[in-house]
Amino acid sequence: MSVKKFVIRGQKPLEGTVTISGSKNAALPILAATLLADGCCTLRNIPQLTDIMVMCEILSELGCSVTKPDGSSVMVDPTHLSRNAVPYQLAGRLRGSFLVMGPLLAKTGNASIALPGGCPIGTRPIDLHVKGLAALGADIRNTQGSVIARADRLYGAKIYLDFPSVGATENIMCAAVLAEGESFIENAAVEPEIVDLANFLCSMGAKITGAGTDTIKIKGVNCLVPTQYTIISDRIEAGTFLAAAAATGGCVTVKNILPDYLKPLTAKLTEMDLSLTVDEEAITIKGNGDPRSVDIKTLPFPGFPTDMQAQMTALLTISQGTGIVTETIFENRFMHAPELNRMGASIKVAGRSAVIEGKSSLSGAKVKATDLRAGAALVIAGLAARGDTEISDIYHIERGYDRLDEKLRTLGAQIIRITDN
Ligand code: UD1
Repeated sequence: MSVKKFVIRGQKPLEGTVTISGSKNAALPILAATLLADGCCTLRNIPQLTDIMVMCEILSELGCSVTKPDGSSVMVDPTHLSRNAVPYQLAGRLRGSFLVMGPLLAKTGNASIALPGGCPIGTRPIDLHVKGLAALGADIRNTQGSVIARADRLYGAKIYLDFPSVGATENIMCAAVLAEGESFIENAAVEPEIVDLANFLCSMGAKITGAGTDTIKIKGVNCLVPTQYTIISDRIEAGTFLAAAAATGGCVTVKNILPDYLKPLTAKLTEMDLSLTVDEEAITIKGNGDPRSVDIKTLPFPGFPTDMQAQMTALLTISQGTGIVTETIFENRFMHAPELNRMGASIKVAGRSAVIEGKSSLSGAKVKATDLRAGAALVIAGLAARGDTEISDIYHIERGYDRLDEKLRTLGAQIIRITDN
């Protein structure tokens, strides 16, 4: 098996413009939702990353025809959907595999998805997905490591989520679009990716209102027609480049983005005394080489995104003063802390909080990516550190970033990707 790593020579300010790719977290549920169409959907602005490849493999496994006319488009035709089960070999590679449950159940009345199991950042249960689908009339069992759902017909229902889970909102919304009657999802997630999924479903003929608010109303329809749709850009990829620019004291423009969706992050960067210019579809950040520490608490949108927590923790390690980061979404999302400490950072984790005492600089070291965003945090730290940083297990990073090293090189970073066979 080949082992891949990044080697970064740090302390080179990033300069230039980077085009942000399509959103991973919007593309995954939308790819799953193509199962609902009576014909071939074309999706544009799809990022090139491993999680997307695995989702495409899952759709192929179910019998869909999946073609990629170019690097950023995918066509999915579920006309010859022939299987109802996603086996562990595929489901285990991607937490988002469970997003196939709602669409598959609604389309065929029968779905079996192997449980992906635990995940480094937390237990990530699926009880809210299951409760919602059961409320729509599905009979759901957990058998031999798979969740099996059956329903001859789904019926509209009022569903209140105990927590505004992104995935549960998506799965329930996808199942309810073909249910008989009206459904309401209360305390629904309001993330931009929910709005994008609803827009995609509506472009197929679904009747959904209220996406982006805490109550989503869905009026079931009999069938959905094929459509062409362009996915929103990735606010977390954009945020990662902004944090990297700030950490290196550089000046970077992220373009092809929706700045409103980045407000929770840009507000924090401004509070750190970094200079930001916001245009219609771009943000430019100018690092001052000496950002000020802030406190951060992750929350559901429009609060600060948990998916930017690790990258901002990396930036705080070289900021002036002490910052406290509180993670309220996932229970085990500080695995980057010991790795950053290997580079000279001072982070103390206690329960759900991390206290970060800012240092003037970090020094390069051999470190390990433990999950996707933790890996991105190490890249940011490596770009800012004195000397060379070697990051192993970068397959985590490649699950969710579209050609990260290539894009960083265009901004002047000294980063190489090494494959040891
Ligand atoms: C999605 C994103 C992920 C992001 C997260 C929070 C995708 C593919 N992934 O993950 O990048 O970090 O939103 O913004 O879009 N929970 C339950 N029961 C459930 C479902 C969730 O208790 O049935 C809990 C989880 O354990 C977690 C919290 O709810 O503590 C948030 O999870 P959720 O919003 O569902 O995140 P995901 O959809 O898995």
